[in-house]
Amino acid sequence: MTQSALASIRDAVPDDLPALSALYNHAVRETTAIWNETLSDPGERGRWMDERRAAGFPVLVAEADGGFAGYGTYGPFRPHEGYRETVENSVYVMPELQGRGIGGALLDALIGHAQGRGLHVMVAGIEAGNTASIALHAARGFTETARMPEVGLKFGRRLDLVLMQKMLSA
Ligand SMILES: CC(C)(COP(=O)(O)OP(=O)(O)OC[C@H]1O[C@@H](n2cnc3c(N)ncnc32)[C@H](O)[C@@H]1OP(=O)(O)O)[C@@H](O)C(=O)NCCC(=O)NCCS
Repeated sequence: MTQSALASIRDAVPDDLPALSALYNHAVRETTAIWNETLSDPGERGRWMDERRAAGFPVLVAEADGGFAGYGTYGPFRPHEGYRETVENSVYVMPELQGRGIGGALLDALIGHAQGRGLHVMVAGIEAGNTASIALHAARGFTETARMPEVGLKFGRRLDLVLMQKMLSA
């Protein structure tokens, strides 16, 4: 477990799945952070977590004030073999706990994990209006490397995608 002043970061366990699924569903229902409209449930998230783990990817949970505060993960950027040293991250923090450094603690842990595996690049795909996520990634050394107008659609709006990336190794 990694301790920071604000949150403890640990591997997710099956008991986290109801809270993890609820946070994911909040993002699906209320935000353009994720461009899905299909809700999850703990069973589906459990299968997703097992697949991530089997492929060697982490699913980390942040705890704050003694409870589930958010989660972070990374997985393949694109499925083709040539992208095997590049990963794409996701970080989600409970709405009432945002702005306390928990997202930063999760992202630091994901970067450390990826560096420990010898990976080369971490990518974040962010809706262009998501100023919190852009600030979070910029603060960790991610820079914008692409901006793709109107590639997404949610809530009847076309969405722009910003790709930010961090080089993990020299
Ligand atoms: C994006 C998100 C993960 C950030 O997590 P958080 O715990 O609120 O962020 P933190 O408090 O750790 O802040 C991290 C950095 O981003 C900055 N930041 C966070 N929110 C910000 C905001 N609304 N405006 C400007 N800067 C912001 C902080 O100043 C901090 O910088 P620092 O490390 O230099 O101090 C969180 O807002 C969230 O879960 N949003 C909904 C889901 C989402 O958008 N996920 C990302 C999908 S790409």
